[in-house]
Amino acid sequence: MLLITDSSLSHADVDADPKTLDIIDKHAKYTLTTYGRPPVVFTHGKGSYLYDVGHREYLDFTAGIAVNALGHSDPEVARVLFDQAKQVVHLSNLYYNVPAGELAEQLIEATRASGHFQASKIFFSNSGTEANEGAFKFARKVAKLTAKKGQENNKFGIVSFKNGFHGRSMGALSATPNPKYQKPFLPLVPGFAHAPFNDVAAVDQYVTEETCAVVVEPIQGEGGINIATEEFLKKLRSRCDEVGAVLIFDEIQCGLGRTGKLWAHQNYSKDCVPDILTMAKPLANGFPIGAIMITDKVAEKIVIGDHGTTFGGNPLGCAVASSVFRRISTPEFLENVRKNGAHFKEQLESISSPLIKEVRSKGMILGLEFKVDPAPLVALARERGLLIITAANNTVRFVPALNISKAEIDQGINILKEAIVTFEDRTLDVAA
Ligand SMILES: Cc1ncc(COP(=O)(O)O)c(C=O)c1O
Repeated sequence: MLLITDSSLSHADVDADPKTLDIIDKHAKYTLTTYGRPPVVFTHGKGSYLYDVGHREYLDFTAGIAVNALGHSDPEVARVLFDQAKQVVHLSNLYYNVPAGELAEQLIEATRASGHFQASKIFFSNSGTEANEGAFKFARKVAKLTAKKGQENNKFGIVSFKNGFHGRSMGALSATPNPKYQKPFLPLVPGFAHAPFNDVAAVDQYVTEETCAVVVEPIQGEGGINIATEEFLKKLRSRCDEVGAVLIFDEIQCGLGRTGKLWAHQNYSKDCVPDILTMAKPLANGFPIGAIMITDKVAEKIVIGDHGTTFGGNPLGCAVASSVFRRISTPEFLENVRKNGAHFKEQLESISSPLIKEVRSKGMILGLEFKVDPAPLVALARERGLLIITAANNTVRFVPALNISKAEIDQGINILKEAIVTFEDRTLDVAA
């Protein structure tokens, strides 16, 4: 694919403010390059918009990869951050603090009230990866204490799924079967196996008496917006019960209102519940925090000293999360996510292009699958003022702020349509 920069475009890379290149040079000189980034430097945002060094405005359909659920620089988030920072920022887990207790109560009570997952305890972490690491440790401890006699040291297998994504630390990476992420760091943690997603018939073969945990995203985000079937989640639940394994739902990307329900698994019947649920991304609208929510059955096996963190559960993050959670968990807010998510989906379905294969979505997590690699579309959209990201399987992923308006969705879709026309011209030209 040719990279053609067109200075007639509203947000052309070639017209970037000169300060942009200075800042990028500084990054290149002093920070480790593990990300390929476009030549744009953002300075601030407001709602669903971001602004670059040269004051150019971009509509943001990425929301920090499903993080800024309430948009950028939300005034209430800023107020809570400031007020809590004036009280106390950090205490360590040597002592109790007020916001962590309040947040834990809110999360557990709202989850129980759904009538689905009957969670009973929370452990706070700093990120999604760390939440998953903790979940794997808890599962291994449960297995050691509940395995059949003589099997205590054999029951350590963790099953995850093809196209799943659970993070980049060694345990989470071991559950993320993407050769691009795993290969440079082999060997990984022993005991991980990767089963085909949504393949009910394969479950018994992978989930055995040696399995201590199964980890699954009810909707795979990074993997291309792949939605688990009811039958598949039910089978995982029943197989985990059969072999005495813990079922972990990684709702780091698809949970916390993203689908228009508090948790993605609430889109399924009440049989589709985990023993452990991990969350992170939008919990504090961008302030780093994660959490592991567990049932009594798991909690009773974990004792003082089993797990720890310096920053997890700090009063600042928990105060912000508590305020964010109060807002995103109301029925009105979730109803709006469902309504605007349906509108977004209709708009995507209205795009006619020979390159498009299908639209997949649940609420405000949407995927537009192409017949070819859509990577060039990201730059084509950005140079027209729209931020989008890709996912696996030739899919463009849309995970905007949950409070994005219909007018903003329409504005973005119009830009996307223009970008797709150019993408088509270039792709079909190359193919011809
Ligand atoms: C489903 C899922 N799990 C885990 C993670 C890792 O979370 P973090 O980047 O906060 O460590 C991500 C991040 O994209 C994710 O989407």
